[in-house]
Amino acid sequence: MRNWFMRKQKNKQKYMAREGLVGWTCPSNIALVKYWGKKDEQIPQNPSLSLTLSEAFTTTRIKYSYDPGQSAQNISFTFEGKKQAAFQDRIQIYLDQISAYLPFLTHCSLEIHSENSFPHSSGIASSASAMGALALCLVSMEEEISGKLNNNFQKQASFLARLGSGSASRSIFPGFVLWGSTPIWSDSSDEYAIPIQVEENSYKDIRDSILIVESGQKQVSSSAGHKIMDTNPFAETRFKQARNNLLRMEEILKQSMWNGFIELMEEEALSLHAMMMTGRPGYVLMKAGTLEIIRKVRDYRKATQHHLGFTLDAGANVHLLFDAAHEKEVKQFIDAELLTHCEQGQVIHDRMGTGPKKLNI
Ligand code: PMV
Repeated sequence: MRNWFMRKQKNKQKYMAREGLVGWTCPSNIALVKYWGKKDEQIPQNPSLSLTLSEAFTTTRIKYSYDPGQSAQNISFTFEGKKQAAFQDRIQIYLDQISAYLPFLTHCSLEIHSENSFPHSSGIASSASAMGALALCLVSMEEEISGKLNNNFQKQASFLARLGSGSASRSIFPGFVLWGSTPIWSDSSDEYAIPIQVEENSYKDIRDSILIVESGQKQVSSSAGHKIMDTNPFAETRFKQARNNLLRMEEILKQSMWNGFIELMEEEALSLHAMMMTGRPGYVLMKAGTLEIIRKVRDYRKATQHHLGFTLDAGANVHLLFDAAHEKEVKQFIDAELLTHCEQGQVIHDRMGTGPKKLNI
């Protein structure tokens, strides 16, 4: 395997038997230019750009013991205090997969405890924050066991997070984040994400209110969704559109053009759903409430000229992104007009965040 990580690891690390406790919180993120479609080893078909959130995050703690004489790995996993066999199996598969990069893992016992700041059943995709928090913990463990500070800590965490869930690679950094190789940013890579510096930052106070139209399990898993892109007749056009939209987004961010930002973000959301609808098999993931919210948001924007737009993940919930300057009015609009389309009136008021935090434990 010749990739960035292997090239960095060429000097074999010497590890000592050790035990300890590491912990991280890692936020979720919302893509503005979407990643949908991938090649082997979680390499994206097109670069994507996201906004890291603040209030929706996962906290993960790992109690570990490493003994080079121990030949089998033991793991246990609890989510919000309860054993979760399905999650544990997924983590086991992930750890097996990344032990090529972190060989010490095969000689470890791990007690992993994880929890989300947002309701588990809210329908918010949690794989980005969960895989991000786990990858950060593993890189911290490696630092402790090797006794050496890692100069590429975030890059390495982003690389490992990507292997668990592509979008998780972006959650490692604050603000606007790019994952995927593009000539626009020379340090970009398909293997890890990088933070994007936005100089004239009129978006720094950006808000994201997440309207929960439908909670519960996703109708189609991300991996099944990406797979469908392998046969979607519009796939190549979509990948080209995303690359081009990234070019447009770079200009928009540089010039702080709110109108262009909203137009592009909405186009991306609807293109993502168009890909779901035209796949084989195809899925309609928007609900009546999603469409009503979209209509009302567009009418409100036209009437008020406020900077407010929507984006969607691979589901029915709506992310409303808006300028903090209009926070009071937009929240009144949400309460009066939009909560009626949300399951039990659920909304999560989030904002652009400052990235993962290491726990002092
Ligand atoms: O990271 P995954 O494999 O769960 O894919 C996420 C895909 C979208 O959330 C729909 C878009 C994106 O770029 O985050």
